[in-house]
Amino acid sequence: MNIDILTILPDILDGPFSQSILKRAIEKKIVTLKIHNIRNYSTNKHRTVDDYAFGGEAGMVLAIEPIDRLISKLKAENQYDEIIYLTPDGERFNQQIANQLSVKENIMLLCGHYKGVDQRVRDHLITKEISIGDYVLTGGELAAAILVDAIVRLIPGVLSDETSALTDSFQDNLLAPPSYTRPADYKGWKVPDILLSGNHDEIDVWRMKQSVERTEKLRPDLFSKNIKKKQTE
Ligand code: ADE
Repeated sequence: MNIDILTILPDILDGPFSQSILKRAIEKKIVTLKIHNIRNYSTNKHRTVDDYAFGGEAGMVLAIEPIDRLISKLKAENQYDEIIYLTPDGERFNQQIANQLSVKENIMLLCGHYKGVDQRVRDHLITKEISIGDYVLTGGELAAAILVDAIVRLIPGVLSDETSALTDSFQDNLLAPPSYTRPADYKGWKVPDILLSGNHDEIDVWRMKQSVERTEKLRPDLFSKNIKKKQTE
């Protein structure tokens, strides 16, 4: 998969991709990640990328021209499956969207700033708008990093135990069951006996029951989604 991230603050993205699983996915060439500085596409001698909003609204707006120049250049080199703008008023990101994006070949992520981008970028250049939650960040970079993390770990070969992504919380609209490791008894806090029993069928049943109970208790919204889904099956 090729991922291109368009930003005016590329340094913010140094950290998340230089560690652990994402770093290895890039080293193994399962993912090619390119970070592009929008400022390099400004034609202005001060390399400005933003301007005052028309109509007297407070705050600066990222201008269309440098973004269009950069997107046009990338589109001439690659056929993009999605060109995504990260914005608090986009579609709420979830595991289902991560799954859908994880099978794409080329995706572009545009990070906004200030008052966002000129609306014409959204109207003419973007194919999808995504929010990571109902709160406003200073820019889209951290949101882009979250998307990349959630998507890349689903690509076969990225996680060492490939089945583990399938049993994640949310894959079935269910939260994951609890996990334990040694020691089996720590300060009298014991691991449930069933997990030490060696009976894998019973352990599977126990895990599923824990998932259902946890979802009902902690995420009643997800739980009712499951019930509705079952009723329509
Ligand atoms: N940019 C600023 N806030 C954001 C959010 N909540 N999600 C995605 N991009 C954003």
